[in-house]
Amino acid sequence: MFPIIYLQRVSTMMCMKSKKIALIMGDGIGKEVIPEAKQILLTIANHTDHRFDFLEIPAGGEVWKETGQSITDASFEKLRTVDAIVLGALGIPGLPQGVAEYAVLKIRQEFNQYVNLRPIFLYEPLRDICPLKDEFIGDGINMFILRENSEGIYSKIGGKVQDRATIDTMIFTELGVKRILEFAFEFAHKKNHTRICSVDKANLLYTSTMWRSMFKELGEKYPNLEKKSYYIDAFCQWLIRAPYQFQTVVSSNMFGDIISDEAAFLAGSLGMVASANLNPSPNGISMFEPIHGSAPDIAGDNIANPIASILSIGLMMELVFADSYIGEILHHSIASVLETHRTPDIYPKIKEKPKVKKVTTQEMGKLIQNIVSNELRK
Ligand code: NAD
Ligand code: IPM
Ligand code: MN
Repeated sequence: MFPIIYLQRVSTMMCMKSKKIALIMGDGIGKEVIPEAKQILLTIANHTDHRFDFLEIPAGGEVWKETGQSITDASFEKLRTVDAIVLGALGIPGLPQGVAEYAVLKIRQEFNQYVNLRPIFLYEPLRDICPLKDEFIGDGINMFILRENSEGIYSKIGGKVQDRATIDTMIFTELGVKRILEFAFEFAHKKNHTRICSVDKANLLYTSTMWRSMFKELGEKYPNLEKKSYYIDAFCQWLIRAPYQFQTVVSSNMFGDIISDEAAFLAGSLGMVASANLNPSPNGISMFEPIHGSAPDIAGDNIANPIASILSIGLMMELVFADSYIGEILHHSIASVLETHRTPDIYPKIKEKPKVKKVTTQEMGKLIQNIVSNELRK
């Protein structure tokens, strides 16, 4: 029932080699949630044959202020040597638009991480936090958003065209669309999903028209999957109206970005959703991160929810190190902690005294670590 990707447990032998992990904490709450993710990796290493070497890489707004780059060339080169990247969030207020965040795009594009997988899962104890009434939640929310992660309107081609006009270029290539759609169909097939839906704006955009016809054409190979295309505006209302119906959802870069933040609230908070930026080729380097940003409004307060970052570790263990067992342990541990403890973003906002205790970022991290540790010791 938990959103495990592919169930498999690797043999001990396969785990012996130490894995080199780049840790990019970044800005704001990135510096608070990634240390909790690191603690989980240390806990895993304590009780299993997995071994990790950490390489801390500075990036983001502070780095931009010092160097004029959000990640220096030297740091970027180091990323080429690692097995996987874990990132917190980049961005601080007051800088020119996008300069701090640029490193995220650069990593996704240069490492060809063309799939952005975002599992949206409502843990049962969080039904009280989900903004929807029970009748809209149905049997639960468990969908996987697959966002195209390398092109679309994220091309950075454009700028000021006249005194009072600017332009951004939305590029869809056949190669780019084909590979994300093929990945999505295979994903839905392997997960035994019964349906897949695609989100576009084909009633207006040329790019979406091409996307929609390729979705139809490539989908012919999957007769057992029910396929449906939605316009982005209508999809946004279905997401609230009947989210339980969605299983695999595939969309372009910008639409995928937007619907995943909306969907995150169905899971309780932005602090509950992890993501995998995948280069699916065997030697590809992938990056794992919470979907949220640096949250300047709460940065430094020790109240950010670290669960999205911890779930990113689960995704990495499954998708890079082929150990879904760890992913399962993390889900069970998180579900169990949520019965009794919450960070403020997922603390019930009700008149009577909630039955759960409010905890800090570090306390939440520690509670999860303790259960993970006990589970792995068994
Ligand atoms: P945000 O995701 O940082 O925050 C939106 C809201 O959600 C805020 O109220 C915040 O407090 C809350 N929130 C987010 N994560 C939370 C968590 N783990 N626990 C509790 N509450 C949480 O979005 P924003 O405020 O629009 O952006 C802030 C900065 O982050 C911007 O510079 C933006 O560009 C950047 N950003 C970076 C990334 C990334 O590095 N991958 C992703 C998204 C946004
Ligand atoms: C995300 C973020 C980024 C994106 C920003 C920071 C460029 O919103 O990872 O969802 O739009 O991809
Ligand atoms: Mn986003």
